[in-house]
Amino acid sequence: MARLSAHSIPDCEVRHNVPLAPYTTWGVGGCAKTLLAPRTADGLACAARRLQDEGAGFYVLGGGSNVLIADGAIETPVLLTTGVSGADAADCGDCVLVHCLPGTSVKGVLSMAVKNGWGGLEFAAGIPGTVGGALAGNSGTSAGSMSSVVEAVRTVEENGAVREWKEGSIGWGYRSCSLFNEGRRVALGVTFRLVQSDRASVVQAVKSAMKGRGYQPSASRTAGCVFKNPEGDSAGRLLDESGCKGLSVGGARVSYAHANFIESMADCTASDIMELAAMCRARVRDAFGVFLAFEIKTLGLADS
Ligand code: EPU
Repeated sequence: MARLSAHSIPDCEVRHNVPLAPYTTWGVGGCAKTLLAPRTADGLACAARRLQDEGAGFYVLGGGSNVLIADGAIETPVLLTTGVSGADAADCGDCVLVHCLPGTSVKGVLSMAVKNGWGGLEFAAGIPGTVGGALAGNSGTSAGSMSSVVEAVRTVEENGAVREWKEGSIGWGYRSCSLFNEGRRVALGVTFRLVQSDRASVVQAVKSAMKGRGYQPSASRTAGCVFKNPEGDSAGRLLDESGCKGLSVGGARVSYAHANFIESMADCTASDIMELAAMCRARVRDAFGVFLAFEIKTLGLADS
């Protein structure tokens, strides 16, 4: 794309040659040739339109908690949503509609729900990242997923128009949302429908959700589960039973706590993680004849 100057998009900072590793939970990845960091919803809409007009493709980066970014230069422009955050709520009797900007952290919305005694989002306890990322990947656990609480989504369409999608018009799958399966649509806002409850019950449900996942690694740098569960089975079990726990390549290691997590240690690179993931895939394929698809998103990498 044509080189954008720092102030060419309103309410949006444009930066060049920006290291992306600090924007990810793995802490790996190269430099974005162009990073667009809007500060408001209008800035985000303008930036999205500008990138859509260019027609050359772009990546949307939220909390970086489920993404592997290639080492080296990232030529494709990156649109960072974390500066566009905030949430407000409207009481509608027995329910509460919580409108969130896409860069709002899931943790932040959950804290708001806990504080006010709103139920429905407890399953999301411990889910990192932003509301926009969680929406696009239909993040969740065995206790629930975004699909169960999303009431509406506001997007900038590929033609630049702003559109509102109501709950019934959105298709959901395991770790997928039909709105973001393809194309260059960008989320501008998400509305959750929560229920009026009481603070003690919500706190209790959050505690039990966290307890249920206490076996997952939390002190190390990871990106959550690396592979999707194959239908009717668990990637973690298949990886574990094919001896992947503790395998390492460079600064990347398969967690001893849960085989579907890869931990990044000092000097880890994206190619260490890719190589380790390929080794794990090969082991599972050889042992069980199952191909594990990535659950993580990749940026600047070919997932073979
Ligand atoms: N298992 C093993 N060894 C392991 C890991 C798991 O034998 O190293 C076994 C477990 O004992 C259990 C089964 O595999 O019998 C399922 O494991 P677990 O309960 O950990 O759930 P999961 O299917 O591995 C999914 C989500 C997690 C989510 C948990 C809990 C996916 C890919 N993963 O994991 O989500 O936290 O359920 O609800 O859907 C994520 O999306 O990043 C993520 C971590």
